[in-house]
Amino acid sequence: MSSANPAVAPENLFRPEVLELHAYHVPPASGMIKLDAMENPHLLPQSLRDEIARMVANAEINRYPDAGAHRLKAEIRKAVKLPAGMEVLLGNGSDEIIQLLAMAVAKPGAVLLSVEPSFVMYKMIATFVGMGYVGVPLGKDFALDLNVMLDTIKRERPALVFLAYPNNPTGNLFDTSSVERIIEAAPGLVVVDEAYYAFASDSFIPHLARYANLLVMRTFSKLGMAGLRLGFLAGSVAWLSQLEKLRLPYNVGVLTQLVAAKLLEHHDVLLTQAENIKRERTELSGALAVIRGVHAYPSEANFILFRVAKATQVFEGLKQRGILIKNLNGGHPALADCLRVTVGTQHENGQFLIALQDTINQLA
Ligand SMILES: Cc1ncc(COP(=O)(O)O)c(C=O)c1O
Repeated sequence: MSSANPAVAPENLFRPEVLELHAYHVPPASGMIKLDAMENPHLLPQSLRDEIARMVANAEINRYPDAGAHRLKAEIRKAVKLPAGMEVLLGNGSDEIIQLLAMAVAKPGAVLLSVEPSFVMYKMIATFVGMGYVGVPLGKDFALDLNVMLDTIKRERPALVFLAYPNNPTGNLFDTSSVERIIEAAPGLVVVDEAYYAFASDSFIPHLARYANLLVMRTFSKLGMAGLRLGFLAGSVAWLSQLEKLRLPYNVGVLTQLVAAKLLEHHDVLLTQAENIKRERTELSGALAVIRGVHAYPSEANFILFRVAKATQVFEGLKQRGILIKNLNGGHPALADCLRVTVGTQHENGQFLIALQDTINQLA
């Protein structure tokens, strides 16, 4: 690299914590059965795809998008049955909303608290914005350890608490009353991250009005719109109107607004697909439970965490057989020998199970 001043280089300009980061790794998946990223494996019905094609053909992509995304927000309010008095803020995926929240509270010394193991972006984003990060270990079977949580909250006074509900990568829903105790004890905001709401049996959206410091975040990525990049934060106007100031005005593009609003008009189609995924999850859990040496954890999400001896070799064996899942072994001590498989179509899950059994037999 040529420069007038050779001292100007990333190493002496960027913050040390940025230099130490590793970029979020997305492995190549071309030609593989892709069960690594919690995507919905189903395509939309042809009639709806045709309708979207016509809409996209006529979309005014020469114009900036509606900065307030009014039509899309109205569809979201309807689809999620937002309680009266609550608002939504839109993000380019919910990742962007995590970042926005962190930017808002990142005073010197401010702390972001979550549990571990959980969604890795909470910690990464705390680092991006220069916040302190505290990860409270989960207890047995990845349940919340309420006493440790409450003690840590008292000690660290976090400005922001993130609880993924259900949790990624463990798949479980935390005990509702423990989450409520945490919301009550927290001196700052508590964000219940419901990325996997479509597959879960409970939600905090109906409780928004009960807690002044509660916000609920969701994404449409797992429901069939991962490629559109759309998430939202629901809560009171008092919080959201402040956060709106940090949102970049055109963060949700013309095509995302158009297509997502159309899909939410057909929310029932997406929810039917989610029901199908839930049925497949039951099948897949049952099949994993009878494979010797595999311990599968219960899941309220569209993925299943399981433990198996020689997990990294099993992961590699699956890859060689054309199946891509997520290797969590080595990431966090509580995830030693853990792999995570996204629930796919019946055919994909079948192929995964055959490859898994085959790999385990070969390694035995
Ligand atoms: C718990 C949780 N929150 C948020 C996200 C981010 O989703 P997106 O940025 O696609 O909306 C994910 C993605 O895996 C997740 O697991």
